[in-house]
Amino acid sequence: MTESTPRVVVVTGAASGIGYATAELFRDEGAIVFGLDIAPTVPDGVTYVECNVSERGSVDAAIELCAQHGRIDVLANVAGIVQFGRFEQIEDAEWDRVHAVDLKGPFMLMQAALPHLKACKGNIVNVSSVAGNVSQPYSLAYAAAKGGLTMMTKSLALELTPVGVRVNAICPGTVDTPLVTAVANNFPTDLDPRLADRLMGFLPGPSITPAEIGSAIVYLASPAARMITGAVLAFDAGMS
Ligand SMILES: NC(=O)c1ccc[n+]([C@@H]2O[C@H](COP(=O)([O-])OP(=O)(O)OC[C@H]3O[C@@H](n4cnc5c(N)ncnc54)[C@H](O)[C@@H]3O)[C@@H](O)[C@H]2O)c1
Repeated sequence: MTESTPRVVVVTGAASGIGYATAELFRDEGAIVFGLDIAPTVPDGVTYVECNVSERGSVDAAIELCAQHGRIDVLANVAGIVQFGRFEQIEDAEWDRVHAVDLKGPFMLMQAALPHLKACKGNIVNVSSVAGNVSQPYSLAYAAAKGGLTMMTKSLALELTPVGVRVNAICPGTVDTPLVTAVANNFPTDLDPRLADRLMGFLPGPSITPAEIGSAIVYLASPAARMITGAVLAFDAGMS
């Protein structure tokens, strides 16, 4: 890559919230940005690629399209869905849906993009969650998926160090996005009040902006972070 060759960056979940802000930031620094999502509302200047991250065929086709410039330098796995409710009420379909999007999705994207990342000595940034780092009640399927994503990041970072591909994760606390608004508006009412103070993400308090998380993703993906791999950055205002 010469000084003037723009990096090719793939951002999943680019139609909303953290992914949208991240795609904008990469675009503004001159990268060629592909926004993968099931919804088309990616920022201007970002190429929308329809992709359901929970389906192998959709992921493979999307990555092939993103590699049209002969390279993929950065993969930011941001797409995700949340789950809230009592443990006893989690149905198989909900467990499977959360794990398909939040855990298997990043797995399949990393596998599909890896040949291109290896060729460019590129890197991956996964958006996990504070819920994957510390105990949080009433979000067991989500916590298990995000805990898996955090651990997958660390293990893959080690495995890919010899081939020069870095893998890092960010674990946000409460970020002001439509996902959080949707959860707050549909919050279960039958939860144990003794655990209220453990519902960290949804207590009133200062929230993080999507662009703040996006900036951290851009940093971890940058040459300035060339010696950082296997890092799990808690970006949670002290929650964890
Ligand atoms: N907002 C928070 O407080 C918070 C905290 C911790 C972690 N996170 C994580 O950050 C990531 C982004 O969350 P957000 O708050 O920006 O949410 P959001 O709902 O605003 O955006 C999520 C995006 O992912 C897309 N998406 C959902 N399912 C998809 C699928 N199957 N295939 C492709 N795209 C799909 C949605 O269409 C949407 O554009 C998620 O992984 C979430 O778990 C968010």
